[in-house]
Amino acid sequence: MPEDSVDKPNVVTCTAPVNIAVIKYWGKRNEELILPINSSLSVTLHQDQLKTTTTAATSRSFQEDRIWLNGKEEDITHPRLQSCLREIRRLARKRRNDGDPGVESTCLSHKVHICSVNNFPTAAGLASSAAGFACLVYTLARVFGVEGELSAIARQGSGSACRSMYGGFVQWIMGQQDDGKDSLAQQVAPETHWPELRILVLVASAERKPVGSTSGMQTSVQTSCLLKHRADSVVPGRMVEMIEAVQRKDFPAFAELTMKDSNQFHATCLDTYPPIFYLSSVSHQVINLVHRYNSHYGETRVAYTFDAGPNAVIFTLQQHVPEFVQVVQHFFPPETNGGQFIKGLQVAPAALSDELKQSIGLEPMSKGIRYMIYTKAGPGPYVVEDPAQHLLGSDGLPKKTV
Ligand code: DP6
Repeated sequence: MPEDSVDKPNVVTCTAPVNIAVIKYWGKRNEELILPINSSLSVTLHQDQLKTTTTAATSRSFQEDRIWLNGKEEDITHPRLQSCLREIRRLARKRRNDGDPGVESTCLSHKVHICSVNNFPTAAGLASSAAGFACLVYTLARVFGVEGELSAIARQGSGSACRSMYGGFVQWIMGQQDDGKDSLAQQVAPETHWPELRILVLVASAERKPVGSTSGMQTSVQTSCLLKHRADSVVPGRMVEMIEAVQRKDFPAFAELTMKDSNQFHATCLDTYPPIFYLSSVSHQVINLVHRYNSHYGETRVAYTFDAGPNAVIFTLQQHVPEFVQVVQHFFPPETNGGQFIKGLQVAPAALSDELKQSIGLEPMSKGIRYMIYTKAGPGPYVVEDPAQHLLGSDGLPKKTV
């Protein structure tokens, strides 16, 4: 290899999506390997609205591994970061030893600099760790020349991250083995499969969540017998039904399972001792609103789901979005001089009938929702080819604009 290419940093930038579970993962059987007590299923959200971008660079001149997240240097010795780095380097070494010409053998001995940014608030219950670890693993794999199944590595960063390694509809099969080799994500259907499906993220608060999911689910596993019942007797059947609903594009079936599973997850949080509350009064109002909206029409047109935070994620079909957005704006009047209320895809104007307002019949809750993000299902991680998009400069440090 010519001398100059050895000195030139090897730089790769990738992006990865957020995913939202419709059958929830909650509870581990192995904390270190991040092996779940039940399978789960999610929809990958479109990166035009929500994504993590990560640049990784290796260079002979780097003294140590370093990482910057959203503009701030963080501790690279964090065990989960270390698991991902170690696993990628181990695979790269294995491939090199197997004689694979694709592996950059020089960079294996080099230190890596990593810089990552989200285009949405961190820790707001928007699964930032999922997109973050998926992006980290995908980018590290490219920089070290590793290919193939990567979801088992992303899983060791954050459980839900394994599902962000694919686009569309993705299941995380819990697996049976103690070593976790069969605990993998798998695409159920691509993002093009159900083009009418739409997603609205109702951002109730950008505050940090009170109990993180890692420690929350630990307490749930230790104390909730409802969680055990859920994992053993409820989720297996629901996974089968959900996969069928997705394959058939059966919105009412998909929606009902989604809402029931979100409700059961939050019931297990309440069954945890001491109990964990992720839903706020705004969340409860959204739940009531959705049920009243559906019952007004006598059919399931809209579904909600909530993760470890108060933000609602709404699923519906494209044709119902304009009216439902009007409903949300009516029952959650936004701040008059606040920023843009609807971000993301364009929403067509719609009228709201008095009959519908009366039939929903809730007291409007002003400023309950700060803004909403309108999006749809999207693709998995990809490489950004344009070098101008690299987050690290030629000196291996974050660019000033990051
Ligand atoms: C409620 O994947 O954040 O969003 O594996 O400890 O990192 P760790 O937990 P994490 O948990 C996500 C929990 C959830 C449900 C889900 O995404 O399936």
